[in-house]
Amino acid sequence: MSPKPKKFNLVGPGDPEAHYLLPPFKRLPDIQDLINHGDYFVLHAPRQSGKTTTIKAAVEAINAKGEYWALYCSLEDARMVTDRDEAMGVIVGLLDKALKEANHLGLEATSLAEALRRYYATPFRDGPDVKIWLKVLCGKLDKGLVIFFDAVDRLAEDPLLGFLSSLRYGHAIRSHSPFQLSIALIGERNIPKRQLEILFEKRLLDHAAPFNIVTEVLTLANFTLEEVKSLYAQHTAATGQVFEDAATQRAHYWTDGQPWLVNALAHEVSENILGQDYKAPITPGLIDQAVDNLFDRKDGHLDYLKSRLGESRVQRIITPLLTPGKTKNPPSANSIDPGFVHHYCHDYDYSFELGLIKVELHRTEVANPIYARLITEYFGRDLK
Ligand SMILES: Nc1ncnc2c1ncn2[C@@H]1O[C@H](COP(=O)(O)OP(=O)(O)OP(=O)(O)O)[C@@H](O)[C@H]1O
Ligand SMILES: [Mg+2]
Repeated sequence: MSPKPKKFNLVGPGDPEAHYLLPPFKRLPDIQDLINHGDYFVLHAPRQSGKTTTIKAAVEAINAKGEYWALYCSLEDARMVTDRDEAMGVIVGLLDKALKEANHLGLEATSLAEALRRYYATPFRDGPDVKIWLKVLCGKLDKGLVIFFDAVDRLAEDPLLGFLSSLRYGHAIRSHSPFQLSIALIGERNIPKRQLEILFEKRLLDHAAPFNIVTEVLTLANFTLEEVKSLYAQHTAATGQVFEDAATQRAHYWTDGQPWLVNALAHEVSENILGQDYKAPITPGLIDQAVDNLFDRKDGHLDYLKSRLGESRVQRIITPLLTPGKTKNPPSANSIDPGFVHHYCHDYDYSFELGLIKVELHRTEVANPIYARLITEYFGRDLK
């Protein structure tokens, strides 16, 4: 049976069997040194920029190399929990599940559970805690471990503070462990900054220590024009359908290489506008038409960004970029914190980490012409 033809991916992380993909692991800056030193590091990049695709590829590559164990654990399913202790139990459950999916990293399936049971059976122990789980696991492994925690910033405020303080403890006891433990914190937000923001909002900055054990903060770059060409060339090789050079340039212009948008424009033209007529070449005019279609539908990523434009902290950063005038969609009343003045830098970081703005030649600009169109349409005002 011939393999299923590949497609441009619009939903969720990429699968190399099913989707056209740029080599994901290559998008990640070199992390070997960080792992060798048992460092903690952050990878943050905007929504739909390829974080999960990239780190899943990293986990696979590290395990295949065999020098260290690598574990992927998404905290997405803990996002609704607001109680700190309850969240700790849910996160331990997610770690158990991740371990199971990773075939227990060479451990006998029951041995960790047994060790934890023994630990909790001794008097004066509290409930499930990430730091205990990590301590017990690391004591049983036959080589170092790197854990990639995805969607960390989806945790509610108290659970996030509790999770980070557990990791801080794990960092402090590293020298007692036989092997290195490296931790990667992945999300849209830069996690240490997010923690400071929470401490600031809760007026706890005097009481709690900032999470300052991160060695490096990494991010993912958008696709360059050459990378967009190389992604689209995979479709040409599979179907024979040609992207005119000017069409690829047009797609790069509209998207500035934002990964989901790059895929979405190509998919819209080849599948929806041309209806899989792969003999028809893809022209710049068709790319423009695809942009209009994405705007008419505003599904997926664009809808998500539109919802963020209603937030007062985003509006505080975006409105100065617009020509003066009345705003069509002021923030809804419940998105304003009455009597509370946010720190301007937090708002700026937030819009930046969402990927809505970029800094070009020391100037703050909207990240790409598609977002610019979304913003001008939403506020009913042009950009300066
Ligand atoms: N290596 C790649 N090559 C081509 N396109 C990619 C690649 N990685 C990601 N993409 C595009 O980005 C989209 C989002 O990928 P992914 O889910 O990995 O991103 P994410 O940053 O984890 O998203 P979220 O913020 O929603 O968790 C994919 O649907 C695909 O369109
Ligand atoms: Mg993701």
